[in-house]
Order: sequence, then C-alpha cells, then structure tokens
Amino acid sequence: MVPSEIYTARVAAGELKPDDAQTAVLPEFDRIANELAKPVKRGFFRRAPDPIQGLYLWGGVGRGKSMLMDLFVSGLSVPARRVHFHAFMQEIHEAIHEARARGVDDPIKPVADAISDSVRCLAFDEMQITDITDAMIVGRLFEQLFAAGVVVVTTSNRVPDDLYKHGLNRDLFVPFIGLLKDKMVVHELASPTDYRQDRLAGSDVYFTPVDQKARAAMDAAWAALADGDGAPLTLRVKGHDLLIPRFHNGVARAKFFDLCGKHLGAADYLMLAETAKVLLLDDVPRLGRSNFNEAKRFVTLIDALYEAGTRLICSAAAAPELLYVEGEGTFEFERTSSRLREMQSADWGL
Ligand SMILES: Nc1ncnc2c1ncn2[C@@H]1O[C@H](COP(=O)(O)OP(=O)(O)O)[C@@H](O)[C@H]1O
Ligand SMILES: [Mg+2]
Repeated sequence: MVPSEIYTARVAAGELKPDDAQTAVLPEFDRIANELAKPVKRGFFRRAPDPIQGLYLWGGVGRGKSMLMDLFVSGLSVPARRVHFHAFMQEIHEAIHEARARGVDDPIKPVADAISDSVRCLAFDEMQITDITDAMIVGRLFEQLFAAGVVVVTTSNRVPDDLYKHGLNRDLFVPFIGLLKDKMVVHELASPTDYRQDRLAGSDVYFTPVDQKARAAMDAAWAALADGDGAPLTLRVKGHDLLIPRFHNGVARAKFFDLCGKHLGAADYLMLAETAKVLLLDDVPRLGRSNFNEAKRFVTLIDALYEAGTRLICSAAAAPELLYVEGEGTFEFERTSSRLREMQSADWGL
C-alpha cells in the first residue's frame, strides 16, 4: 500500500483524524514510495539508480511529521532505515573514527559506501544540526549518499535555511543547505492542530506516590505519546555520551537515577530538553540531605526542561512541595516545586 492508502485506512479505522495539511503532503510520500518500488535497472556499467527527490518535511511540534514518516517507512518494500538524526550522526562519527584508525585517507567515503550498499532510503526523524563536528561532515557525507542514489526523507522543526543557525563557521555549512534543497522537496506541514498537545490535554502528568497505579499511568502515557517501543538514544554532549534509555517520536523516558544519579550537568539537561518534546521521568524519590547532589541535578534538569518548554510527566514519591523539605537548598527548591506545579497545567509548554 502506498502512504495515502495507509493513511486513509487509518482514518477510516478511527486511529487518525483527517487533517488537510497532512493529506496535502501524502502525494509526495506516494511519489517517493512509487519511485522506490520500481526495479532498479542495472546495466553493464552498473550505475547508480536514477535520482529520486527526497522529502524534507518541517513544521511545528505535534503536527504529525514523525507519524507520517513512520507510516511511509512501514509501507516500503525496499531496504530502508528509520533513525533519529542524532543517533545516526553518532554512528557516523564512530564509523569515521574506525576508518581513520584503519589508516583510511578519506574516511567519509567507506562510511557512505557502507550505507548506500545496505539501504535505498534513509528516513531521519528530527534533523537538526547543533554541533560543529556534525556541521562539518554532513555536506560531504550527503553528497556521496545522494550520488549513490540513496533517497532521504527527513522531519525537522526548522526550515532548511535555519539549520545550524548562528553556528560556528556556518559559511562552511551553507552549501549543505543548497544540497538539501536541490535533492529534496521542502514541504511545510502547516497543520493548525498540535495532536500531541491534544493527547496531553486533560490528562494527569504528575503521579504520586510511586505505586502500581502510578506505574500503569506512566506506561499508558508512554503508549499514548510515543507510538512504539522506543529505543535507547545516545546524545553526544561536550565529548561524553548521554544515554536516554528510551526514546521515540520526540518522547523520552528515563528513571530519576538515570538522569540525576549520574555525573551529568546543565549541558546534558539542555541537550535532553532540546531533543525531547516530552520527558517521562519515573520514580522521583523524596530528596534531602542524603541525596543532596541528586536534588541539585534535579533542580538543573527542571530548569532546563522549563526553559525549553519540554513537557514533563513524572511519578514521584510526594507532591512537588513535599519532595525536598529538609537540607541545604530547600529555599532554592521552592522555585523548582513551583515550576513543577506550573508545568502541570494543561496549556503549559509545547
Ligand atoms: N491526524 C492525526 N490524528 C490523530 N493523532 C495524530 C494525527 N497526527 C498525529 N497524531 C498523533 O499526535 C502525536 C504527535 O505526532 P508526531 O508525528 O509525533 O508529531 P511531530 O513529529 O510533528 O512533532 C503522535 O502521537 C501522533 O500519533
Ligand atoms: Mg516528531
């Protein structure tokens, strides 16, 4: 089935609400799916398949970009890979590192070859460039992928011209934007509806105490928002790795100690807040003298989420005001509990 047929079926089944802006982009997905389905002509001089214009789908959060991309990938019969852009770049850096260690002069080449040998379509969720090491290699990497006939479909919150905005050495990055516009159809998903907000509206986001009921509620929230099992996601922050245990469609899930029980700091939480639209945080304990460092990190985490407008859904041992009542920094914690309260309101964030 082509994407528009899958979409129609899901609307008919009541799983999706019909949306004009989403419907408007389906012909692009159909076109790519149909092109990919054609057999590749392999002549004597085994050349790359004819170029197929990819799709750069951008727009505000919760509009259904990831959902549409998943729907497209699910209907493909050619080898394709759907991956979060951060995770993909992480792998690229590792592969380049290995190639260098083997003494390869131009390490991007074998890395691009390995990808184009294994897939015909790459589907990236949330393309964004925040890191100079990414910015400096994507141009040559994608040039080679496109030249080998790999079709790229991507979602992003930003229009191509705004990628890596204000980034260091941006002039070296700018040709990549031209390449994207050349090889992909740029389409804005301008739906008026934020479906994620809709799914969150009216539902509880703070569960206390941490009991069976709270766990079930957290699992239900994950099921409603993430639309899938999710996979671990490793983010690279200032030379070290930040592991998010579960991530899918902009929704992250971690336990309190995964994030606040390790030596992580503001940069990590900012990166997390930038990457996730919603964080599901399980098992926030009562905080006090014995876990002062964890409490401090929790304050930093909440500040980062608050600033970025990331929604927080959590299970906690007590109400916000009762989480941290004794020990150093209880005064500062008042801001955190107040923010936790504010972040519970239905219209907060997003
Ligand atoms: N037409 C629709 N009807 C019902 N739910 C939708 C529709 N479009 C998207 N959703 C749901 O809304 C949530 C947000 O969609 P998502 O694709 O993750 O948005 P984006 O990637 O644009 O931020 C997901 O849970 C998704 O399944
Ligand atoms: Mg998304």
